[in-house]
Order: sequence, then structure tokens, then C-alpha cells
Amino acid sequence: MTEPTPTKVDMEKIVSLCQRRGFIFPSSEIYGGLSSCWDYGPLGVELKQNIKQAWWQAVVQQRDDMVGMDTSILMHPQTWAASGHLEGFSDPLVECKSCHLRWRADELKGDSCPSCSGELTEPRQFNLMFKTFMGPIEEEASIVYLRPETAQGMFVNFLNVLDTTRKKLPFGIAQIGKSFRNEITTGNFIFRSREFEQMEIEFFVKPGTDKEWFNYWLEERFNWYVKLGIKKENLKLRQHMKHELAHYALDCYDIDYLFPMGWAELEGIANRGDYDLSQHAKFSGKSLDYFDEDTKEHFIPYIIEPSAGVDRSALAFICDAYDEEPDKEGIRVLLHLHPSLAPYKVAVLPLSRRENLVAAAKKVYADLRQSWMVSYDDAQSIGRRYRRQDEIGTPFCVTVDFQSLEDEQVTIRERDTMNQIRVPINTLKTTLAAKLSGEELFVLPPGGKIWKE
Ligand code: GAP
Repeated sequence: MTEPTPTKVDMEKIVSLCQRRGFIFPSSEIYGGLSSCWDYGPLGVELKQNIKQAWWQAVVQQRDDMVGMDTSILMHPQTWAASGHLEGFSDPLVECKSCHLRWRADELKGDSCPSCSGELTEPRQFNLMFKTFMGPIEEEASIVYLRPETAQGMFVNFLNVLDTTRKKLPFGIAQIGKSFRNEITTGNFIFRSREFEQMEIEFFVKPGTDKEWFNYWLEERFNWYVKLGIKKENLKLRQHMKHELAHYALDCYDIDYLFPMGWAELEGIANRGDYDLSQHAKFSGKSLDYFDEDTKEHFIPYIIEPSAGVDRSALAFICDAYDEEPDKEGIRVLLHLHPSLAPYKVAVLPLSRRENLVAAAKKVYADLRQSWMVSYDDAQSIGRRYRRQDEIGTPFCVTVDFQSLEDEQVTIRERDTMNQIRVPINTLKTTLAAKLSGEELFVLPPGGKIWKE
């Protein structure tokens, strides 16, 4: 058997779909946008929330050895001295002596300015943390930073979590939140932006068991994307070379995805050793040792860190789900989003705007909304409405027609196959719940039948 080949989609099509249908807009667009900042629209916010919920369910809710946190974006400035960000979180920059544009030295092809061919300065390190001031006085003593990663909030709370949850090693803390980096090279839509959201796990283990846990998390996190529908051939694990390793990492792999611009990092999984807790113990003067009651040993735990981006995941899920199929009206664009990620789970469509049909459809709509995000659409032909739902990834459309008024039945149409079944309205909710959990469309409830128009 031949392996499936990786597939790449066109970024322009993705950006256009996202803007046209209300997934993602440039930030402050009416003022011309703000470079590399993005706003998630009505569909984008649903997708993003669903991604975060799927992650939280898998790594917190369904595990005994994990707890969640939500720590603040602004932290004590010493945090960043201890973490190494004040010293080392920088990119080498050169400036053009003529046009004064700045470039990342490690990404330049030649030795002159790519914009005007002017002469460039020597590289200078540029710190990527956003600086601001706490309180009314803008002076050195009041400088604080917007966090460039959520991780540090979890490291500095290690003792609080240990004391309040009475967890024993191995255990982890998980957090979802905004991070900020004054990136020099941005672009590729939401792939690299200056304000973004991370989903990070800090998993504390006994030294000596770290390699085993590292491998465990590599597999676990890779499979999470596959379970949520990303094609395996579009994902790969890539180990960092020695010179690429961050200052804290003993080992690191990226889960790379085949984005429209090529293979690039979706998530990083690092073995951070005892770097973080040792540094915070040193800078805070507080012992961050762990006491193992079984062996009566004191030691500083090692940390395995799977760190994912919400925005990059959203981009990967959209790209992977994007599909075009020829049909009688030209091309059917669809997003094969996993039902748990789809912004709307169901769309309710009355066949026409006739009063009695609308009333029946609204009743179905009101009932289904108690359980899921449901869309209601009665504008234009039914064919067009199906296409609109396909394009935003709605897994099922429920059509209320004239016959429904007599037989109390409706049709359910499946997005991917366009197959239809007809079911009694009083079984609709349980039928949809089963289909959304993966049951075959043609498994019918009592009184249901396969439907051909
Ligand atoms: N605590 C470790 C850490 O932050 P990282 O590799 O710098 O590691 C982890 O970031 C993940 O955060 C990346 O794999 C990516 O998904 C996301 N990420 C990092 N910088 C980003 C940016 N500028 N824009 C969007 N996502 C970003």
C-alpha cells in the first residue's frame, strides 16, 4: 500500500474564506488594520473555543494527574530575570542606514537592505518582550512585561498547587491564555502574530523518569491532532538540533504541520529539566524542592512541557478541513471540520418562508439550541443554504418541509456525503447527538428512513 501524500492548500483561499464568512478579520480594520494582530469573528470565536475545550477535556478533565490554572499576564519583573527572558529572549536585528527599516539578521539572504539595497548596521540583540509601566509613573522601577509565554505563571505556582491539591509526582498543570511577543518577522496570516493564545502543560516528574514522560507526551499530543481530524500525513515530529535548543531545554521536538507556506511548528514539546524550578528557587529565595514520601528524598522535579498555539491550531484545523468538490453549480467548498470543532453543529432550514413552516422550524431551532450552537437560515434557495453551511463546516442540516407539518418528521443532511435521512421530530435531538458522536448516518432511530429527494 502506498502512503497518502501530504496535501497543501492555498493560503489566499483560506484567508478569503475566513474573512468572507466571519472567522477572522484584521484587527481594527476600519483604521487600516494593525500589523499581525487579528480579530476572531462570530465563527472564529466558536472554533477557537471548541479547540480550547477539546484540549482542556483531553489534558485536564479526563486525567487524574492534571489540574488547571489561569494566571495573570503581568508578573513580577524578577520572573523574567529568573526565566532567562530578560537576557536571552531576543532576535539579532540589523538596521538599514538609508531607509532605517529593520531586519532579522539570521533571515537575511544578502548583506544589503532587501528594500532599498542600502548598507546595514552590525546586528544588535532586540528583546521580544513588550514593556509597559505599572502605576502612574513611567520610570525604570515600574517596568513590567506582557508575558511572552504562559509557562512562567505555572512554575511560580508550583508550591501553591502542590500544597492545595496534595498532588504527588508525576502531575501537571495546564493553562490556556494570551501571550505577547514583539515578533520581528510576522505574517502568514495567524501563524505568527504579536498577540496570540497558548495552551501549555507543565508536567512535573521525578528526574530519571523524564525521558519516558517526554516520549509519552510526544505521542499523546501528536494523536490529539489526529483524533480531531488532522491527516496524519500532514503532521510530523521534528527533533531540534543541538544548536536550535532553547537555553532551558535538554531535548525538544516540534510537531510540524504542512501549512500553506510549508512545514512549520504547530506545537513544541520540551524536556526543560530542572532549569525552571531551580532558577525560581534561586531568584525568589524559596525552596521549590519536592519531598518524596515513599523514598524520603528531596529533589527538584524535571519538567516536560507540551506547548501548543491556539491560533496555529485553528489555522491547521481550517487548512486541513478545506476541500473543493466539483458539482453541478461549479465548485462545492467545504470544511470537513470534526463535529466537536465545528462552529455550528446543526443548521435548521425551513424549505420556504411560509408562516406555518417558519413557525415549525423555529420550534425545532429553539429546542436544539438548548444543547448546541445552531444556525437558522431561511434566505435564498435550499441548495444555496446547504452550500453556505458546507463552507463553514456545519456537520448536519435539518430541513423542515411541508410534509413535516403533516408527518412531524424532518430530514437530516450530512455535510460530507450529502446523504439524507428522515426522522420523527421527537427523536431528532437524540439522533443528532448520536451522529455528532460519530454514529453512521444510516443507523436509524425508530420511525426513521433513508431519504432520497
Ligand atoms: N513555553 C514554551 C514556549 O512558549 P514556543 O515554541 O516559543 O514555546 C509554543 O511556543 C507555541 O506557541 C508554538 O508552537 C506556537 O504554536 C505558539 N506560538 C509561539 N509564538 C507564536 C506567535 N508569535 N504567534 C502565534 N503562535 C505562536
